This record gives sequence, C-alpha cells and structure tokens, in this order.
Amino acid sequence: MRHIMNALDLSKDELDDLISLAEQIMENPQKYAECCKGKKLATCFYEPSTRTRLSFEAAMINLGGSVLGFSSADSSSAAKGESVADTIRIISSYADICAMRHPKEGAPLVASMYSSIPVINAGDGGHNHPTQTLTDLLTIKNLKGRFDHLRIGMCGDLKFGRTVHSLIDAMVRYPGVEFVLISPPELKVPDYLKKETLDGNRIPYEEVSDLDAVIGSLDILYMTRVQRERFFNEEDYIRLKDSFILDTKKMKLAREDMLVLHPLPRVNEISTEVDNDPRAVYFKQAEFGVYIRMALILTLLELV
Ligand code: CP
Repeated sequence: MRHIMNALDLSKDELDDLISLAEQIMENPQKYAECCKGKKLATCFYEPSTRTRLSFEAAMINLGGSVLGFSSADSSSAAKGESVADTIRIISSYADICAMRHPKEGAPLVASMYSSIPVINAGDGGHNHPTQTLTDLLTIKNLKGRFDHLRIGMCGDLKFGRTVHSLIDAMVRYPGVEFVLISPPELKVPDYLKKETLDGNRIPYEEVSDLDAVIGSLDILYMTRVQRERFFNEEDYIRLKDSFILDTKKMKLAREDMLVLHPLPRVNEISTEVDNDPRAVYFKQAEFGVYIRMALILTLLELV
C-alpha cells in the first residue's frame, strides 16, 4: 500500500507513467468508466476547497466508483475534538482510498501512519499540495510538450503558496530548468527551499519584484494568489494582496508561446480580461486535474 504526501514520492519514471495514463484516459475516458466499480473514495477536507475535492470526487465517479466524506472540520467529529489518527482508523473501514486536506502541515502524513488504505495529501497548510503539482505537470507536458529547458516564472505569494513549493520540488529534476521568483520581499520563497532544493540541485534562479521586467523572458508564468488565510495580520494582507495584477498590458510584453498557469482560486491577481488570451490556460489546467486524479486513484488502488 502506498500514500502520496509529496510530489517527490513519485520517481521521474513513475511520474511519466502517471502522466501517460492521464493522457490515455483523456483520449478514451470510456475505457476506464468501470475500473473502480465497487470502490469508495473518502474526501476528508478540514479546509475549504472547490477544485481539489470536487475533481477527486468527479475522478472517482468517472471511474465507476463512489464517494463519501466531509467538506469542513465543522461538519466532522473534529469539531468535538477527534484526532486525525482516530478519524482515519474509522475511514479505513468505510472506504478504499482517502484524499485529505488539512490546515496543519503534516496532518495527512500522521493520517497515513494510522491508515490501512492509501492516503493522498490534498493540501496541508502552507506545506505541500502534490495533486495540484501533478495537475500542473500534466498541463505543462500536454500544452508545452516537455519539462526540460523551461524558464519558469513563479509570481505572487511564494512564501505561503504550497503549490509553488511542490512545483519547484518536482521541476528541479529536469535538465535546463530555471526559475524567476517574482514576489514582494515579505513573500519570498522560504530559505530552506532555496538552500536545499534550488542551491542543492544547482538550479539557476533569480529573485525579483518587478513582473514587467522579466515577463518577456518566460516560457511559463505561474501566478498565485496572496493567501489571506495564512496571514497573522490583516493589515499585512491588505498591503500585499494586490502586489501583482496580470493584465492585457503585461501580456503584450510576454512571448507568443508563454503559458499562464494558476492553481486557482483567483482573486485579483489575473484580470478577467486575460481569460480570453489563448496563453491563459488556468481553466484548462483545472480540467486536467480530474484526469491526473483518475490516473492517481487507479495507480494507488493497483488497478492498472
Ligand atoms: N487549486 C486548488 O487547490 O483549489 P481548491 O482550493 O479550490 O481545491
């Protein structure tokens, strides 16, 4: 039995297999429509979600399985003080696989230690969000055609943005990848990630605070929202929330083949006028999330 806590839990070869399976599912979804008949997915979400929870549920339903779960801590016995360890012991006897989101970093890992079914981290605090990373990778592979030799701009809240951390972790494994880290000084990528992951793998990167100055050099621009729920101080959030707004004026400075990704939800950081630009692929990216989660469920349940 296998759990997924971090995108790096999958080797490069396993990742290639997963992406290839997701693309096969995209091409012929009918072929997989009954693969999970009789299987149940539990979605245990202690924190709000639209895409991750519903795309997991859509994925299991598309595979012919069923779903159960809760969408907030308040609607589970966590509100009465039940531990994650006790909850997953119970869920293990109700379902075959579990996707868990939790505001506390490491909570899904704790769950995995007490679980007798595969547990997938669906986002833990500001730490990791591996299935978003898998979604991002499928988007890059499908729309850009490669992972290597890409100049990737990460823009916005790079301190609390767990999707940024997970994507950096995954992309450093490919040759010729470099990063431009675009954020206000207060929201820079954490030092541990720069030291261990970027410096540790000799990945070229620069830290800047001016999007206009670098947008023209990027293959991919990964926008993120400033994460209000992670701030201790509302004043700081208000001061920083509109640090970057991608609009059509900025898009004119970008290459014709640059892709704009965003894990969503968007707040103000991408103007809606950008949505019709063919380089804006964030809605397509959310759609890809269903296929990669279908592939992941099949793989963890050893049905392929
Ligand atoms: N991208 C993402 O995790 O979205 P949700 O918070 O809506 O699940």
